Amino acid sequence: MRLGIVQFDPEFGKVEKNLRVALGLAGAVEADVYILPELFSTGYQFKDRPEAASYAEELPGGPTTDALESFCRGRGCYVAGGLAEKSSDNLYNSAVLVGPDGFVALYRKTHLFDREKEIYDVNDEDMFRVYDIGFARVGMMICFDWIYPETTRILAVRGAQIVLHMANLVLPYCQAAAVTRAVENRVFVAVANRTGTEDRVPDETLEFTGASVIVSPKGEYLLQAGETDEGCWTVSIDPTDADDKMATPRNHLIDDRRTELYGALVEP
Ligand code: ACM
Repeated sequence: MRLGIVQFDPEFGKVEKNLRVALGLAGAVEADVYILPELFSTGYQFKDRPEAASYAEELPGGPTTDALESFCRGRGCYVAGGLAEKSSDNLYNSAVLVGPDGFVALYRKTHLFDREKEIYDVNDEDMFRVYDIGFARVGMMICFDWIYPETTRILAVRGAQIVLHMANLVLPYCQAAAVTRAVENRVFVAVANRTGTEDRVPDETLEFTGASVIVSPKGEYLLQAGETDEGCWTVSIDPTDADDKMATPRNHLIDDRRTELYGALVEP
């Protein structure tokens, strides 16, 4: 299958334009599954919760998911991308996965980053779900979720072959850490990051790091975008490479876990 990453510089608040740019980049290159960045349609830096609420969409059914669905219907592909979600009085930093038959799945960011804690509700549900979309079994995570290895681990334990990672990275570690996440779980990790700068909040200039990556279950970079490049790039992968969990002939990465000794990991 072909896996594609879209990296660009969303312009804050210009939803129609950002959708057009993102789907224009994706549409120029053929892939079976595309990943767009976190909050790709609105931009990242909301001044406050009411401003975020004014851009948030109900999922599914909002204009952004509708546009993604018609893109996928015409091409027989899947797209995962991040956007702000409103659900009654709640507000989430979310992502959707849509495909040729419409909406597939919703994910709400589990580990909110920095000022996001003042803007969004924290997701209390276990949303680390794995979806068999025919091309592959996939799971989603959003940006800062990466720094908790539990996120990727749970998706791997549940059978994900590819982790679709929608990001607006500002810290410089994730693109390197993706190799570790891939190797320790023997999964593909695909990070769609954004470029550009946002400085809508006093004393908070955010410089997004670009450099999106796709890493194989053996830790090889299959794709590395530049820090400021805009585009859509694809790689051809065999998702079943992620089903081989043997690090050596005697070491199965999932079955050999010593879960009886890991209790401290889930103590509050
Ligand atoms: C991030 O979680 N957007 C850094």
